[in-house]
Amino acid sequence: MVKVRNLTRCRACQSRRLYQFLDLGEMPIPNGFLKKEELKKPEEKFELAVFYCRNCGFVQLTVVVNPIIMFKNYVYIPSTAKVMMNNFTNLAYTAVQEVGAGEKSLVIDIGSNDGSLLTFFKSYGVKVLGIDPAENLAKIAIMNGIPTECKLFSLKTAAEVKKKYGKADIITATNVIAHIDNLHEVLGGVSKLLSDDGVFITEFPYLLDLVRKTEFDTIYHEHLSYISVKPWRKLIERFGLEIVSAQRLLIHGGSIRITHRKKSGSKKIPDTIKYLESLEEHFGLYKEKTYDNFSLKVELLRNELVSTLKEYKKQGKRIVGYGAAAKGNVLTNCFGIGKNMLDYIVDSTPYKQGLFTPGMHIPVYPERKLLEDKPDFALILAWNFADEIIEKQKAFHRGGGRFIIPIPKVRVV
Ligand code: TMP
Ligand code: ZN
Repeated sequence: MVKVRNLTRCRACQSRRLYQFLDLGEMPIPNGFLKKEELKKPEEKFELAVFYCRNCGFVQLTVVVNPIIMFKNYVYIPSTAKVMMNNFTNLAYTAVQEVGAGEKSLVIDIGSNDGSLLTFFKSYGVKVLGIDPAENLAKIAIMNGIPTECKLFSLKTAAEVKKKYGKADIITATNVIAHIDNLHEVLGGVSKLLSDDGVFITEFPYLLDLVRKTEFDTIYHEHLSYISVKPWRKLIERFGLEIVSAQRLLIHGGSIRITHRKKSGSKKIPDTIKYLESLEEHFGLYKEKTYDNFSLKVELLRNELVSTLKEYKKQGKRIVGYGAAAKGNVLTNCFGIGKNMLDYIVDSTPYKQGLFTPGMHIPVYPERKLLEDKPDFALILAWNFADEIIEKQKAFHRGGGRFIIPIPKVRVV
């Protein structure tokens, strides 16, 4: 089995003018949680370095770990966090309004996971179809009444689906575009499968938020692309699509929802897109220097966080982690925050409980341990859910416990 594929050209525009601005070193797969008996075995590590395309501005990884390795022990349970569910409700409503969808309309979700987004669509009486390569998740979706094709989305899948179900009036792809190595296959497939007056709606973490808020820990092997509007627009135009609107979202530390239609022939770029592109330019998203500064900011953050934790440890305080998110595993591995600083991590996901984090081998316990054990501090590694977690753990705070939020700046509350 080939373990990694090395790109020499930009994933979006094929240019060779790639500039490496951040090297997070060798790191285990951030969702590779370990059983106790696996702790003694050496862990496989893979390079994690990020590149900026000098030609089109697309930010990306060039080392692509074989998905079989990446998703081997991986059971992604979609977050049931309220913010995520509210976002799905809103997405389904907006999409149905946009095309005036009715009972004859077909909605296809690429990377449909356990079918949660499509459940929201189903309540509008439209026909739905999920496409997802994970067998266990497709099974759950089907059990929940969401028809699902258990396949990787490609040009071939698009053709097969089109033959079997017809063209789609709405195609969605949330938090999946960044995971896909071959974007040309996917966009080609979308273009083929979308009806002439249909919409394609995608959501992904927004590069502008990542850079602005130093969200370096959202950079990991699974996320191959870090996308902003300008290079995205250039890319989708090559597939006969155009952007009709874009909306920034608060989820995952700052995401963006982009709605596309088939090209109308009009050369006019919508005002929201012009605005976002000028915001990106103004911020310096298309200047190398911005990325060099970003790397420096990651170093400053490391110093600040590690010295804060060391100081508390010196005072004899007990610190634990909150949320064994993949990003938390990036942060702890990259900053060398191990069991010497965090006694354990609590997490609501049943399958992570009882396991150990990749690399740092920190044990994961259910959330209730926080109140039973009453440590002095909880470092919120799932910082994108900080508000929800703090709200949920009011009793810990009332009892004198404090939260440390690492990103965008170290804050103790
Ligand atoms: P994610 O950002 O990759 O979805 O990871 C978030 C992690 O945080 C996931 O492992 C679940 C965990 N979590 C909790 O433990 N408690 C919570 O209240 C929330 C919202 C998330
Ligand atoms: Zn490029």
